Amino acid sequence: MSAPPIPPASPASGTAPPGDQARARAKIGVRTLRTDRWWLAPLLTVLGLVAWLAYAVTRSFMQDFYWVADYHYLTPFYSPCVSNGCVPEAAHFGRVLPDVWWLPYAAFSLPFLLLFRLTCYYYRKAYYRSFWLSPPACAVSEPHRKYTGETRFPLIGQNLHRYAFYAAFLISIINTWDAILAFHSPGGGFGFGLGNVILLANVVLLWAYTLSCHSCRHIVGGRLKHFSKHPVRYRAWTFVSRLNARHMALAWITLASLAITDFYVMAVSAEWFSDLRFVG
Ligand code: FES
Repeated sequence: MSAPPIPPASPASGTAPPGDQARARAKIGVRTLRTDRWWLAPLLTVLGLVAWLAYAVTRSFMQDFYWVADYHYLTPFYSPCVSNGCVPEAAHFGRVLPDVWWLPYAAFSLPFLLLFRLTCYYYRKAYYRSFWLSPPACAVSEPHRKYTGETRFPLIGQNLHRYAFYAAFLISIINTWDAILAFHSPGGGFGFGLGNVILLANVVLLWAYTLSCHSCRHIVGGRLKHFSKHPVRYRAWTFVSRLNARHMALAWITLASLAITDFYVMAVSAEWFSDLRFVG
C-alpha cells in the first residue's frame, strides 16, 4: 500500500501551516501506540515537584529554625534574611522588611529564584509534560486542541529567564558568602563541622546548576562570529557547555541539596541532633 501524499510546505515559512499539519497526521483511533511505561516519567515528575514545593513553602513561611547561632549556619531558604523578624546575626545585609507572617524572611530572593526555576528550559519541559500533558510524552497525543507556544501572554513571560539568571547569579554569590561566614566556632574564630560540608556542597551544586543555564551559555559564547579571536570566551563557553549537558540532572540534584541543607540546619537549630564538629 502506498503512503498518503504529504501536503506541500507553506512558501512563507518553509513548513506546513498548523491546519495542514493536523490533516497530514495519520488517523489513529487511540491516544498512542506506545506500549512502554511512558506515563512513569511525567508521574514521577509531578510527585517530585509537588513534594519539594510543599516542603519549600512550609519552610519558607515557618520563620523558625533557620539559623544556628553557635556555628552561624544559615539555611539557603532564608538567605538573605532581610526581615525585622530575623535574628540580627543572621541578617548579613540588614533587616528592612516588616515581620509579618505572610512575608518570608528571604522575600527579596525567593521570588527571583522561583522565577529562575519556573522559566528554566528544563523545568518548562518538565511541567509542560507532566502537569499540562502538552504532550505527556513523545508520540502520545495531548488533550489540548490548540497550540500557541510561548508567543503570547502568559507564556511569553518565559523570555524573562535571562533576567532571572542575573538575579540567580547574584543570589549564588550571597549563598557563597553565607557558606564562608559559617566557618565559625562557638568561642569565636575558625570552626568546621559537618554543617559546613553540607553548606559548601550545596553552594558548589547551586553554582553548577546556575552556570549550566542555557542563558548563561549564550551570554558567555553567543553573538561571536569567530571563537578563534576570543580564546577566553571559548574556554568559558566550553566549560559552561559541559555543565549544560548535565542541566537536567543538576536541576534535580540542587532541589535535593537545597532540601537536605535546609533540613540539616533546621534539625541542628531545633536541637534534634547536634552538629558533628571537626574543628572548634
Ligand atoms: S535554562 Fe535552566 S536555569 Fe537557565
